[in-house]
Amino acid sequence: MKIGWLSDIHLNFLDDDAVTTFIGELATTGVDAWVISGDIGEAHSVLDYLDRLASGLDRPVCFVLGNHDYYRGSIAGVSREVAAAARADSLVWLTSSGPIEMDEDLCIVGDDGWGDARFGDPIGSRVELNDFHLIEELEGLGRSELIAKANALGDESADRLAPKLDQAALHNAKVCIVTHVPPFEGAAWYDGRQSGPEWLPWFSCAATGRVILDCAERNPDVDFLVLCGHTHGHGCFQASRNVAVHTAGAKYGSPCLQGIVIAEGARLRVHPV
Ligand SMILES: [Fe+2]
Repeated sequence: MKIGWLSDIHLNFLDDDAVTTFIGELATTGVDAWVISGDIGEAHSVLDYLDRLASGLDRPVCFVLGNHDYYRGSIAGVSREVAAAARADSLVWLTSSGPIEMDEDLCIVGDDGWGDARFGDPIGSRVELNDFHLIEELEGLGRSELIAKANALGDESADRLAPKLDQAALHNAKVCIVTHVPPFEGAAWYDGRQSGPEWLPWFSCAATGRVILDCAERNPDVDFLVLCGHTHGHGCFQASRNVAVHTAGAKYGSPCLQGIVIAEGARLRVHPV
């Protein structure tokens, strides 16, 4: 079983021909399935890109959405549309789906996650994300309202993820978790280093990290591999004995294959390409 990993491909930064070429190149990779850890397009384009990816790759595509996928739209509206567009076996929004069994002991679970303003210094941070202006639910919020909303979005993500993780760990020795926002401080890589207190509130999701570590502790014989993106800085982080995290490096306008996930013995590994 080989799983191709994409993240932060931001296809809206490419012209139409380049999107077609990129998907055509991916289709020759020879993997059995694809995972995408968010930031595929924006609110008005993400559905079209998902449709083109599912058709062009001709293999199951399991994805989560990133913050950019809600830009110039709303979380509620995009969620409704994407959930309706998902196709049972070929296009799976992990956020609204249970675990996806890949073989007898490997499954994929996921949830979007959200920069939940818990790590770092959310009150002192002067970072102004486009999220605060381009996503309907966040637009016009004051700092304390913004922090409360970020907390709530992180909690919602964790609440959805927790039962899926338990179910996955019950039936599988290897669990691949796909999420957009790094779930640990140590996984919020940027420019070769871990993010500082200004960026951490928006570059990490403490709530999903907590449920991942809880589940991993209760299931010491299960290997958990977390694939995330969001910060565009590549790095690896061992969150606990049985939880490894890979954060995708990305550049706007230059989408790429992050790696190929392969089971090796009792573990899941990401092979570079
Ligand atoms: Fe991104």
